[in-house]
Amino acid sequence: MTSAWSPDSWKKIPAAQQPTYQDQRLLHEVLRQLSLLPPLVTSWEVDHLREQLIDAQEGQAWVLQGGDCAESFADCQAESIASKLKVLLQMSLAILFGARCKMIRIGRLAGQYAKPRSSDTETIDGVTLPSYRGDLINRADFTSTARTPDPLLLLRGYERSALTLNFARALSEGGFADLHHPENWKLIFVSENESARRYQELVERLMHALRFMETISSTATSEFRRVDFFTSHEALHLGYETALTRSSVRGTGFYNLGTHLPWIGDRTRSVTGAHIEYARGIRNPLAVKVGTGMTTDELTRLIDILNPNNAPGRLTLIHRLGRGKIDTLLPPLIEHVQKLGARVLWICDPMHGNTIGTSGGRKTRRFDDIVAELRAAFRIHRSLNSRLGGVHLELTGENVTECTGGSSGLTENDLDSDYRSIVDPRLNYEQAMEVAFTIAEELASEP
Ligand code: PEP
Ligand code: CO
Repeated sequence: MTSAWSPDSWKKIPAAQQPTYQDQRLLHEVLRQLSLLPPLVTSWEVDHLREQLIDAQEGQAWVLQGGDCAESFADCQAESIASKLKVLLQMSLAILFGARCKMIRIGRLAGQYAKPRSSDTETIDGVTLPSYRGDLINRADFTSTARTPDPLLLLRGYERSALTLNFARALSEGGFADLHHPENWKLIFVSENESARRYQELVERLMHALRFMETISSTATSEFRRVDFFTSHEALHLGYETALTRSSVRGTGFYNLGTHLPWIGDRTRSVTGAHIEYARGIRNPLAVKVGTGMTTDELTRLIDILNPNNAPGRLTLIHRLGRGKIDTLLPPLIEHVQKLGARVLWICDPMHGNTIGTSGGRKTRRFDDIVAELRAAFRIHRSLNSRLGGVHLELTGENVTECTGGSSGLTENDLDSDYRSIVDPRLNYEQAMEVAFTIAEELASEP
């Protein structure tokens, strides 16, 4: 991969996980239209995130990244967006206040519409159709029409990303994120449990602190009326990502302006693949998922290709190894990065290595496995003098029943009562808050 890079140099290389479109002419027309539409974010914002990620790498900040496994077009609604933002905000507050650590909030949001699949096709009762690859590509219903990849969905996905981002920006610029309005921070805990009590206590302490600050300073408070909020999604559909890749007006190079933080998934991170070729030339900070198959050789090449100058803030590695494997697989990877002297930000995704199937045919994850992997990640990084700089979660602000466990004690039998995800199981509101308290506790115990 030493040849010249351009936004579409990846086209010379086989690309994994791409849909097969029947109407190529329409696909090209849609991508042309997309490339003329305004970007969703700006290069200044992207650079600002990178600055903040440098802080996280240096131990001055912590990353909370979360949202749906896959957003759906049907869920592009006020309540769903607001509740996702709200849970991320409340979690970040719990961590910030509990651990005295600056937070960087990044949603899996406003573009998380494309999914990698283990098989190109799905067979039910002898009928074989293309797999559902996310609303950006096709629809989930098991009919031939729904499953046929439709280029027009790329435009619909772009539009919904813009609508989502517009609302998320408005919410985080004022009102909703304004700490002066405790009603925005009201609990929707269904049960009176330990998390609910801790959260209530936290809000009260926060209000006290805010009043104190206002008494001693008349200027400081505007800072508490808004929050920074960034977006991220898996950069999977390379045609779509390229159409949103633009040359910055400042002449600082090409940026993916469809999101602040694009990441490359575990299935498409091959060092000889098209996704890494695409990613290496854009200026955004990049994240790469690190699954159980990652070797130290691959990691060396990945770092060389994506961050040849060892620039801070450029590369985030999101390990997702599973509760049972993290203890053996993570230490050699951390030690290897240390040996290379590579500057990376380490984040733990305690979700994707802990997915299991129920006897009823549902996908779920046990809350205890998620927390155990996260605690192990803190412990392992600490013991090697490395630093865990953030977490990557699949969550929702609603009280869904997709992961088992947590203080409300959800069992496999409860999963049917409100299981909504068409892909991976997410933490519900209470489970997510419990994870936040766990993180605050871990961080507070760090020297
Ligand atoms: C995901 O984040 O939804 C995902 C598919 O993750 P991974 O690439 O780590 O499997
Ligand atoms: Co997922």
